[in-house]
Amino acid sequence: MKMNLFFSIMLLFLVSTAALAQTKISLHTDQAKTKINKEIYGHFAEHLGRCIYGGIYVGQDSEIPNIRGFREDVVFALKEMEIPLLRWPGGCFADTYHWKDGIGPQHERPSMVNVHWGGVTEDNSFGTHEFLDFCELIEAEPYINLNVGSGTVREASEWVEYVTSKNISPMTDLRKQNGREEPWEVKYWGIGNENWGCGGDMTPEYYADLYRQFASYARGASYKIACGASDYDYNWTDVLMKKTQNKQHLIQGLSLHYYTITHNWSHKGSATDFNEKEWVTTLDKTLNMDELITKHSTIMDKYDPEKRIGLIVDEWGNWFDVEPGTNPGFLYQQNTMRDALVAGINLNIFNQHADRVKMSNIAQTVNVLQSVILTKDEQMVLTPTYYVFKMYAAHQEATLIPMNLETSRYEFEGRSVPTVHGSASTKDGVVSITLCNLNPNQAEQVALTITGQEFSTCAGQIITAKNMNDYNDFDQEEKVSLQTFDVKKPKNGNLSIDLPAKSVVLIQLQ
Ligand code: AHR
Repeated sequence: MKMNLFFSIMLLFLVSTAALAQTKISLHTDQAKTKINKEIYGHFAEHLGRCIYGGIYVGQDSEIPNIRGFREDVVFALKEMEIPLLRWPGGCFADTYHWKDGIGPQHERPSMVNVHWGGVTEDNSFGTHEFLDFCELIEAEPYINLNVGSGTVREASEWVEYVTSKNISPMTDLRKQNGREEPWEVKYWGIGNENWGCGGDMTPEYYADLYRQFASYARGASYKIACGASDYDYNWTDVLMKKTQNKQHLIQGLSLHYYTITHNWSHKGSATDFNEKEWVTTLDKTLNMDELITKHSTIMDKYDPEKRIGLIVDEWGNWFDVEPGTNPGFLYQQNTMRDALVAGINLNIFNQHADRVKMSNIAQTVNVLQSVILTKDEQMVLTPTYYVFKMYAAHQEATLIPMNLETSRYEFEGRSVPTVHGSASTKDGVVSITLCNLNPNQAEQVALTITGQEFSTCAGQIITAKNMNDYNDFDQEEKVSLQTFDVKKPKNGNLSIDLPAKSVVLIQLQ
């Protein structure tokens, strides 16, 4: 009887150990050489739905606690997350935006129709001063997108002058009249947005010529970003690179937009009500980011082998159907453990391509698409994506350690993805390793070998959930957040980690 029990326990032990498939990772700290720009952890806020109004800005007279009109809770949460950069005012909105409508006394500013996003009235109460004030408050670098689609060269040139110039000129006088004596320091300027689509429906040849013209007059813009391709449009990248070749002073960055769409544009699927097939499909599609960056970079290498021009992934993230009952033009969606995985995977990919990817901006900061924050009146929710950004802040300004990763594949109904995805970096003697387990059902045992440094301490954090579609909601206890994760110190450079199912983990060794 006793023997039977012993054998049963042994069998159970063997079966469960075998179920933990092995992933092998090796890291050599002395191979670290590429800096991970903090701007890779950037965000995007457009005049769209409740991102700016209600999400970021409520006005000074609001009952919602605010600092000069900016939601206090959102300001603190973004600072806590270490937001390094914010892109504004769009998006499609940018190519309809006339910046002079958004300066001067707020009650004198004209209203306009937000044609792209729900046809709602835009009262322009959040304009250049408010945006730059907000960036100062949250200690983020501003990234302003100029209007090429419906604006003029003069309008764009004057905006740059208004913001950045120290000289005596009509624009700097106007700025001073509006209460700002000193110019702001704004390094990043986008010249048009999606000009192949909502930004004017242009051909790459036509846009490239316009770009050169606008960029020539955007004096004071030290880092100019050309509108780049959507997804797999490699021809756009090729034409832009070719037509700006030998014009080093005109172009410092070229953008790329790629959204993860689980089904298709007319049926994108629910953000929360999904099954395992949709889980694996979303993760598989998000992994395409790696191929996209590799192929666009290869084209860029042809014209710019020194990698002087940054690839700027200034829109990315999950795009699902809007939450039932909400305005379809507002793009409001919830955010689950699946979004945490999507964020972790993309940020790992950007880290791995840090030699070419110099900035990225998840769409969008509050209440729109894959947000880090959701608000309802005076309430605020931090999404699983928020916690991933908070966790991955460890990589900002660190040096990438190339990762050698051998992993099994998690497969569901004919679709498969790598079980483990990761990246690693080093900063001030601390090695940070971020790992995602894409398998929603099973833990994965990871054997990590690390050479080049001795470690005396080890700490970990984890984001996971009971169910793959768990999310944080108003008036409810948080279901997905950042927790401590126990890891042992490496012995002779070896460390074994049990990565729980559907998890994003940070391990820090020092
Ligand atoms: O982020 C929402 C929209 O997606 C942006 O306005 C546009 O640039 C893209 O198509």
